[in-house]
Amino acid sequence: MNYYIGIDLGTSSCKGVITDKYGKIYDSLSVKYNVYYPAPNYSEQDPEDWYKAALKILSVLSKGREDEVRGVSIAGQMHGLVMLDENDKVIRPAILWNDGRSVKETEYLNSLPDLTDMTGNIAFPGFTAPKILWVKENEPENFARCKRICLPKDYLAYMLTGVFSTDYSDAAGMLLLDTEHKKWSQKMCGICGIGTDMLPKLYESYEITGRLKPLFGLKNAVMCAGAGDNAASAVGTGTLSDGDCSISLGTSGTVFIPCDEFKRGAGKVLHNFCHSNGKYHLMGCILSAASCDDWWTKKILKTDYDKFTLDKAAETGVYFLPYLTGERCPHNDVNARGAFIGMHADTSREDMCLAVYEGVAYALRDCIEAGGVKIDSAVLCGGGAKSPLWQSVVSNVLGVDIYVTETEQFGAAMLAMVGCGEYPDLISCAKATVKKKLAVRYDEKTHEKYNKGFEVYKKLYPALRSVYSDMI
Ligand code: XUL
Repeated sequence: MNYYIGIDLGTSSCKGVITDKYGKIYDSLSVKYNVYYPAPNYSEQDPEDWYKAALKILSVLSKGREDEVRGVSIAGQMHGLVMLDENDKVIRPAILWNDGRSVKETEYLNSLPDLTDMTGNIAFPGFTAPKILWVKENEPENFARCKRICLPKDYLAYMLTGVFSTDYSDAAGMLLLDTEHKKWSQKMCGICGIGTDMLPKLYESYEITGRLKPLFGLKNAVMCAGAGDNAASAVGTGTLSDGDCSISLGTSGTVFIPCDEFKRGAGKVLHNFCHSNGKYHLMGCILSAASCDDWWTKKILKTDYDKFTLDKAAETGVYFLPYLTGERCPHNDVNARGAFIGMHADTSREDMCLAVYEGVAYALRDCIEAGGVKIDSAVLCGGGAKSPLWQSVVSNVLGVDIYVTETEQFGAAMLAMVGCGEYPDLISCAKATVKKKLAVRYDEKTHEKYNKGFEVYKKLYPALRSVYSDMI
């Protein structure tokens, strides 16, 4: 039997699944670790924690099947800056995708007239290039010691194989890639003070990059390049062709739209990245999605409270702005903060829970409208996708039918299946392994109510923007 292991290096945990080529899941494991917030707007992790989690996952999932694991692939939280010294030791904690320290550097990069020509995108503080500039400016000793720069999943793959590699979907989020032509931009690297020789070799996500080091017991396993977590989730939901769309409700929230051709000029509001199928995609990203529900129900209410219904959809008068860690798309504002607004003396706990779901869905709609894209339906994925209520809210706020996959997604494992030749391409792999079902058909009346609600929602951030900057 041939087995494939997919690892998802997330922000709150690392998850792994082992499947066969039909996508049957034999075992899975999730290992949690910490995020550190050492200063306002900072967000860091220790790459050693990722490595320990991945080792545990590999050893548990492969137990008893070591010789039959053919391929491993990793999906990773995007944009994180990992810096290695000449002995491949991590120089400082990784600076994560939701870190907002590099505002000045982001403004500088956005002032370059040819930034979008060079990279296909504008800069956001979460992207890797502004963080490199921040370290250069604020930690010159660390910068001087740095010999290699890589993304979170590429650090793991390097430790596991000894091969320094990345894939195009994740590389595009560094803002160092000429996304259209799929090569490192010499000019952008020069602007950031680094050489392209410090960056990993580029591969398509499903290409084999090397073998696992023998010490991991997986004698017959190759490593495939893997993908940024959103591109891998898109693979796992079969979101691979023009006209498809997947929406993820994870720690972050994303709207992911595949494009057969590179869309020049589209990367000014949305991200304009490479997809893991060799093509491209557009993506809107909000920094807090399922994490808003976690914050509200677990941290504040201290319960798994979900006793609310959709009876009052768009009618509670309560709005929630989900900017708990600032906001990426469409506002690009690290100082934005979460807010409840519109509470009345008879506002209930149910109303506020519903407002959290609605606020996240409105924020996703904000990305879609500001980015000028249209979607007809979407496959929902990520932790938040498990809630039938949240599925309905997203469906009715966006006015589209929502699909879900029948089993857990295993996009990273699918990349390994294609890399190892089980399928000629990702589309045929998805046809054979991914089963989708309709979860919610949107209701026109509820959608109309939400259209009115969205008009109110859209006015809230502009009204609060100056208050947010006064609060710094
Ligand atoms: C995408 C982004 C997030 C992270 C979360 O641009 O920053 O979705 O990849 O893991």
